[in-house]
Formats: sequence, C-alpha cells, structure tokens
Amino acid sequence: MNDQKTTKHTVTVTNNATGQALELPVYTGTHGTPVVDTRSMHSKMGMFTYDPGFKSTASCSSEITYIDGDAGVLLYRGYPIEELAEKSCYLEVCYLLLYGELPTATQFDEFRQMITMHTMVNEGLKDFMRGFRHDAHPMSILVGVVGALGSFFHDSLDIHDPRHQEISAHRLIAKMPTIAAASFRYSRGEPPVYPRNKYCYAENFLNMMFSYPTYKYEVDPDHSRVLDKLLILHADHEQNASTSTVRLAGSSLANPFAAISAGIGALWGPAHGGANEAVIKMLEQIGHPREIARYVERAKDKDDPFRLMGFGHRVYKNYDPRAKLIRIEAHALLAKHGRLGPLFETALELERIALEDEYFLERKLYPNVDFYSGLIYRSIGIPTSMFTVLFAMARTIGWIAQWKEMINDPERVIGRPRQLYVGPAQRSFHPRLERGHIPGETGCAGRKHRCSHGHEWPGDKNGQRKAKGEGCDDC
Ligand code: CMC
Repeated sequence: MNDQKTTKHTVTVTNNATGQALELPVYTGTHGTPVVDTRSMHSKMGMFTYDPGFKSTASCSSEITYIDGDAGVLLYRGYPIEELAEKSCYLEVCYLLLYGELPTATQFDEFRQMITMHTMVNEGLKDFMRGFRHDAHPMSILVGVVGALGSFFHDSLDIHDPRHQEISAHRLIAKMPTIAAASFRYSRGEPPVYPRNKYCYAENFLNMMFSYPTYKYEVDPDHSRVLDKLLILHADHEQNASTSTVRLAGSSLANPFAAISAGIGALWGPAHGGANEAVIKMLEQIGHPREIARYVERAKDKDDPFRLMGFGHRVYKNYDPRAKLIRIEAHALLAKHGRLGPLFETALELERIALEDEYFLERKLYPNVDFYSGLIYRSIGIPTSMFTVLFAMARTIGWIAQWKEMINDPERVIGRPRQLYVGPAQRSFHPRLERGHIPGETGCAGRKHRCSHGHEWPGDKNGQRKAKGEGCDDC
C-alpha cells in the first residue's frame, strides 16, 4: 500500500530559538494535498506537532476513499460516487470497498450468497436485547449488541488471520440490518422479524422493519431502490470521527466487533451521524418557513448554541456531492407523491435563505449528507430514532474495510496522540488533615478526626486536627 506514497520534496522546519533546522519528507498520494512526515520531530527536535481535531493531520495512508472537499468530489476506490449511485448497488459497493475492485458476475453472486448465509443472529442475542429498557434508543442497543457480537464468534477472532478478517467482515455486513431492525422492533415492544433470503439487502431490511405476523407486507420497490442508493452514499467517507475511532480502537488489536461498536458510539453525536435525526428535530422546531430567518440569525450568533444542523463540513467547502444526489432523490419522490410534507418545504426554504446569507457564504457552509436524508427516510416510513442507525448500517462496510486496511498496514502502530500539558507543575502530596480549609468552607469543627489506631477525637474550634505529635488521647 505504501508504495503509492512518493517523496519528491522536503520541508524544512527551523527552531527560531536555537537555529536548528530539520528537513522532513513530503509525500504525494494519487490525488490530493501532500503531507509532511513529522514522525522524526520528537526524536530529532524534541518537539511534538499540535493539531487539536486533526485539522491538518493525516493519521494514515489509505487506498479506499478520496474526497476533494473544494471541488465536491467523492471517490470509492477511484470510482465517482455519482456513477456508483446510479449504476451499482450497495452490495456491489461493499465488495468494491472491501476487496478494492468491482466484482465479476461470478464473484458478485458468490459474495451475495456469502452475505445471505450470515444474516441470521444467534438466538442468544434476543435475550441480550431484552436487558435493555423498553424505551431504549435504537442506537444505544446497536452500540451494545454489536460490541457483544464478538462473544459469539470465538472461532474467528484472530485479527491477524486474513480468513478471520474476511469472515468478520461478512458477518458484520450481513448481520447489521438484522440487528438494526431488531433494535427498532424491540424499542416498540414488537417481535423481531427473521431475515429472508429471497430479498436483496435493502428489501430485507425493510421487511424486517415493517412486516408483521398478522398481515402481508409488500416491499415498495421505490422504497428499496432509494434506500439502496442512500446506503451507497453513506458507505465510506475516509478518516471521519467514527472511522478514526474504529481505527484507533482497532489499533490496540481489539476485535473488530469491539472496534466497530466504538465507531457506532462516535457516529451517534449530532456533529456527526446523529445530525440526520437533529435536522428533523430542527425543522420541527422551526415549524414554519416564516420562522426561518429568526433561526438563521440564531445560528450566526456565537452566544447561542443553536447551529443549522445538516450544514457545514470539515472537508467539503463546496456542496457535499452526497447531499446533491439526495436532494435529487427527494425531488423525485416529491414529483411522484406530489408532496413530501411541510418539513421538506421548510428545508428547501432554509437552504435557499442560508445559501444567500453572507455568513454561510463566507464560511463555505453548504448542506451536507444529513440535510435531506432524514426527509427521505421519513417519506419511506422510517422513524426518526432509526435515522442514525441507518447511517451506521451503511457505514459498517467503510469501518470494516478501513479496519482491515489498518490491521494489514506494515506501518501500523497503536494510535496514541501526544498532548501539550498545561496543568499544575509538579508538587508534593500532603495528608488530608494537613491541608487546612478552602477559604469560606465552614471547616470540620466538631467533626471527628481518626488516628491510625482508629481512635477518634474532635477537631479544635477552628476545625483543625490537634498539633502534630499530640495524636489521640489514648495513643
Ligand atoms: N451553523 C452555523 N455555523 C456553523 C455551522 C452550522 N451548522 N457549521 C460551522 N459553522 C461556523 C462555525 O461557527 C465557525 O464559525 P467561525 O469561523 O466564525 O468561528 C465556522 O463555521 C467553521 O466551523 P467549525 O465548527 O470550525 O468547522 P468544523 O470543521 O470544526 O465542524 C461540523 C464541522 C460538521 C462539525 C460543523 O459544520 C457542524 O457542527 N455542523 C452541524 C452538524 C452537522 O450537520 N453534522 C454533520 C456533518 S456531515 C455527516 C458526517 O459525515 O458526519
């Protein structure tokens, strides 16, 4: 993998206090911003680099996904997201991300067969789920259940064995829809639905979400098609917060189920995958298009914690290409069904107003993948609490592909950032009774002190212990 990394230039860092200069190699990948290799800075210069939030730091080299945030480009293994969304299907994209190439027809059939074989979950997991409160958020169930999966597969947890890596990947891709749908059914007090091999990936998930023993559920082909497309659009996004979490957790050689459970936790936050749920809540809070201007003003006010959810991105400084495609899908649904509801109208108007506003233009804040996805999920009947679960289900392939790449990277080391320590300077410990009181504290007058023999005596009138050496009356 690292053969792709070429060094043509160097950068010299000079310590202006001492004049010491250090020449550092610069690597250029296939596309994108070159990176400076700062690994020798500590040993040669006695300094670390400082970059909270990794705004300027590449944590690894990767062959999987490429984003050009300024141009609004997203490639999976070199293929533009627009082409994959139009011409491929989610399972084929899973194969591409996992193995690096698109499958032949035979390879695809074998892969689909393999995934289908693994869709069931151990019956013991049902008991595990019963331990959650009846009204648990499906994301909290997902974090727990995926972490617990490792305990069912002792036979294949050798993370260095390529076959074990592959089986774990297949199991995760296959079981995620089953677990995701079961987490929803459980939170509703409804019986889980078993997977059925006759369905494709998205159809199977919809069937497990919405079918009941009491009536026949027909999967709407429009719904499974749009869901499949959304899964493709969410499948990977290089080193975002959850993927970096998976890599970091996995770098300690934890099993992939534990690492991906950590990633699901990181995804849940509203600054990341939880934004799709937060967008709907925001649109509901705004309520009516006439209120939009007021909320846009609030989003610009630094003293107000309110932000426009579904807007802005660390990497995209242009329209998120995923959001562009999802917006088209939303319009297609609108054309077919006539109306996507008042929330869609509020979303369109909010986007229009924000994109004409100097604040958003200056900061290059555009709608991201989460802005319209919730509206589509909602239009196909998915409840709001499941939106981030769907993101996790789609992203599982990205996490497992990135985990596998990390484990097999010859440059892999445990992820262990450094810090700039700004706490107290070194100081000596004093026993509790010698520390006196914080000014204003009432003290411990009248409270008992205890000597090392266990004898007690009262504090003096100031609440202090007796003078050193006096001890208790019996000692
Ligand atoms: N509403 C209002 N102001 C914003 C927003 C927003 N949604 N996003 C960024 N800004 C402002 C921010 O206050 C800052 O202003 P200033 O320069 O005056 O201090 C400037 O834009 C740069 O923002 P930042 O917070 O430094 O950017 P970041 O790269 O650290 O954060 C982000 C990126 C996605 C966390 C942020 O844009 C955000 O909180 N957006 C809303 C949540 C959201 O939609 N998240 C989903 C991200 S896409 C799905 C995924 O892949 O996770």
